[in-house]
Amino acid sequence: MLTSRRRLLRMIGGSGALLGASAVGLTQCDTMPSSAIAPWTEPGHDRQDVRERALAHALLAPNPHNLQPWIADLRDKDAITLLWDASRTLPETDPYGRQILIGFGTFIELLDIALRQRGYRADITLLPEGMPGPDADVSALPAQPVARIKIAKDKTISPDPLFNAIPARRSCKEPYDLDKPLLPSHEADLRASHIDTTISLNIAKDGPLPDRLRNLTRDAMALEMQTPRMLKESIDLTRVGAEEIAVNPDGIDLHGPMFWWLKRFGIMTREKAMQPGTMAYQGGIDYALGWAGATPSFGWIATEGNSRAQQIAAGRAYVRLNLRATAQGVAMHPVSQLLQEYPEMSELQQQFRTAVGAKPGTTIQMLFRLGYADQSAPSPRRPLDSIIRT
Ligand SMILES: Cc1cc2nc3c(=O)[nH]c(=O)nc-3n(C[C@H](O)[C@H](O)[C@H](O)COP(=O)(O)O)c2cc1C
Repeated sequence: MLTSRRRLLRMIGGSGALLGASAVGLTQCDTMPSSAIAPWTEPGHDRQDVRERALAHALLAPNPHNLQPWIADLRDKDAITLLWDASRTLPETDPYGRQILIGFGTFIELLDIALRQRGYRADITLLPEGMPGPDADVSALPAQPVARIKIAKDKTISPDPLFNAIPARRSCKEPYDLDKPLLPSHEADLRASHIDTTISLNIAKDGPLPDRLRNLTRDAMALEMQTPRMLKESIDLTRVGAEEIAVNPDGIDLHGPMFWWLKRFGIMTREKAMQPGTMAYQGGIDYALGWAGATPSFGWIATEGNSRAQQIAAGRAYVRLNLRATAQGVAMHPVSQLLQEYPEMSELQQQFRTAVGAKPGTTIQMLFRLGYADQSAPSPRRPLDSIIRT
């Protein structure tokens, strides 16, 4: 990324078309719109209904492509029915809805933690009307509720210390310090905090494996970005500049002076980002490959089997690790390309499974970078009212 950023900055800096753009002007334009990140500050402070307060925390959950496909139906008193917005799926990169269901798991876990904080017990029934199995096409899935959650005040419920990490948690999409693998004390702490014994947690930080995973991750990213229908899915969900982010506070957000100028001068358009040979296309690839390479350690979590309930459980486990990492100052970031279920990826996926010694029948649900970096800025969130139905 740094190389391509420098290249781009040199180019726009040297462009005659930019005459008159002072350094001050360059840095002032196009900051993240405050409305898009307002949900991160004092979540739910303006809500009386305990369910809404908890949902304001839950919507800060990590989720694939930041699609935020959640709908919380609050029409039954003391209950939340969690639904899947059918307009929010990733048919190319997530053809069976596995990743989206993991994202429901992260949401449910944060909801549960936030309810506990206020002394409420959540009785969670997953998939109350069932859901087609793991090989079913994603288009069939949103018709079924994902969970029904009854809540009740309960004196025996104790708060979860991870609550405090919710607003600080990030998927840290930055290069990590390559010379600093995960410290043994941090590894031990993450392992100790992982409580769901049905899900295995694996960490690669020593020996030749991290390097092998870096290469596989980079190859998978390059493959995905060179596969036009995959690239298009991401580009369609990319919001370039503050104006687009303010209108759609979701998806992949690109903002800051560099993107503002690139967009303004027609260098960064959706069409160009799809066209090999353009700066927009190559910049995207360089960016992703840059931080994939700058990864000293990796983690992954896996389930024996791949039921819908296991996918949700994997999401719950993942976000707990992400919160615990946040509390320790460890950077963490999912890299899912190697796990994705489309034919072009299957060969690399097999190489990855062999490299990590995955047994037949095991599903690796999340693969993530681990290391140390400056924490990244919060990503946009839709306002609470856009996900609740009363
Ligand atoms: C199942 C799942 C898969 C994800 N895969 C990727 C990925 O491949 N690449 C990536 O940059 N982020 C990935 N993410 C992280 C999301 O992009 C991130 O959660 C979202 O942009 C919101 O940002 P935040 O987590 O910092 O709040 C994934 C998250 C989940 C839950």
